[in-house]
Amino acid sequence: YNVPDAFNEPVLSYAPGTKEREQVLATFKEMYATTVDVPMYIGSEEVRTGKTQTMNPPFDHKKVVGTYHEAEKKHVEQAIDAALEARKKWASMAWEQRAAIFLKAADLLAGPYRAKINASTMIAQAKTVHQAEIDAACEFIDFLRFNVEFMTQIYAEQPISSEGIWNRLEHRPLEGFIYAITPFNFTAIAGNLPAAPALMGNVVVWKPSAAQVYSANIIMEVFKLAGVPDGVINMVHGDPVMITDTLMASPDFAGVHYTGSTTVFNGIWAKIGANMGKGIYKTYPKIVGETGGKDFIIAHPSSIPAQVATGLSRGAFEFQGQKCSAASRAYIPQSIWGAVKEHLVNDVKSMKMGSPEDPSNFITSVIHEASFDKLAKYIDAAKAANDAEIIVGGTYDKSEGYFIAPTVIVTTNPQYETMYTELFGPVLTIYVYEDAKWEETLKLVDETSPYALTGAVFSQDRYAIEQATKALENCAGNFYINDKPTGAVVGQQPFGGARASGTNDKAGSILNLLRWVSPRTIKETL
Ligand code: ALA
Repeated sequence: YNVPDAFNEPVLSYAPGTKEREQVLATFKEMYATTVDVPMYIGSEEVRTGKTQTMNPPFDHKKVVGTYHEAEKKHVEQAIDAALEARKKWASMAWEQRAAIFLKAADLLAGPYRAKINASTMIAQAKTVHQAEIDAACEFIDFLRFNVEFMTQIYAEQPISSEGIWNRLEHRPLEGFIYAITPFNFTAIAGNLPAAPALMGNVVVWKPSAAQVYSANIIMEVFKLAGVPDGVINMVHGDPVMITDTLMASPDFAGVHYTGSTTVFNGIWAKIGANMGKGIYKTYPKIVGETGGKDFIIAHPSSIPAQVATGLSRGAFEFQGQKCSAASRAYIPQSIWGAVKEHLVNDVKSMKMGSPEDPSNFITSVIHEASFDKLAKYIDAAKAANDAEIIVGGTYDKSEGYFIAPTVIVTTNPQYETMYTELFGPVLTIYVYEDAKWEETLKLVDETSPYALTGAVFSQDRYAIEQATKALENCAGNFYINDKPTGAVVGQQPFGGARASGTNDKAGSILNLLRWVSPRTIKETL
């Protein structure tokens, strides 16, 4: 299986004077000055129902950058029909053809579409250009390229044969269609969730997050230009409950590829279970999901304070803390707390906040009003609490955009609410423990981890590193030693977690792609 070797797309710098900076800022301006009318894509049709919602950039929420059209039940049913019609050819198309299409999509994103996918992500999801480049360009491109390589590894895996007997394994796509439900926080994940099953020969109905429709529309443009045939990936918008219920009521529903909240994912399991009880499905649907996190950093007394502080500030506040992997709780030993605090407060104070249009801003606004209000509520509660104090940040303003200053809460109570509740924004809570209680604190981290997505230990002591790695083995699917718990790179750190964080099928790995095949074993007597 000779496909081009996958490689990680180099991250461009966007430094002043660079061509990429000029291009992306010009594209941003141009896109910002016009409005778009985003349809749904059902088979070969662009469907405009007239039932529309406006799209407003979160950092400038009075501005309208366009509208999108919402589905009625019949449109969702049409999307199923269109997918199943497309499946007739797509499922048996040679894998080389499918690979060529998605490799072309990667090349379009790396070249002519780079500025557009980045600018659309800056506008829709309020990402700085540096954040958009890492997500919408590089990570998305990496998913597409590495998935092709993983696919060929899957196809190459064959059972042994013997004289007179030829055994083989056909990695067939699933029988039916896949439902992709995607989040706002990563354009790369939004693109990968429909693309990965489609690469394996499946057909997809995709519902992007309402907050990401603007950049999802550019993804569809890229897929179409790359040659994804009509009906292979259909995109619908609208009431998530109606869409989910309609798709999951189909006997041809074959699986869900999900990233989003734990609560919604739990509801999906329940719906599938109830439908399964009624016996409506042709096959057991695959359920693949990445959900919430309450990702931690624990420092050992041997750790280097400046390194810990950088891990905290980067891990918690990059991308406005809106990464599922973001550090949102930390355990710091008393002996180094003074030094960590000084570095951390200085670092956070130096973070410039503002519009994504200014590349010198480090953080921008959070995604929408509901998120803003939730974060403001927890910040106010910390201000009023006896067992918590805010050491930096604590301000917020939604007059123009949903801006929350990066905020550090220090609590004397390891069970303080924000030590275990997912906030999904730039708020970090720290508990300072007595040095002698290192082992107890490891136990505490585990016992207060309903989630298990990412986590990090900082230590210069090998024995302590080993202790933490073992003691915390069930509370992080991605575990970091002396680094922040974010920034997993496709092909390098397969990503995903267990417990309430999901099915741990590791996005950007062979494990994920294996969920999208239904293998058939053939024994032939010669
Ligand atoms: N790949 C992203 C990270 O690890 C989600 O931060």
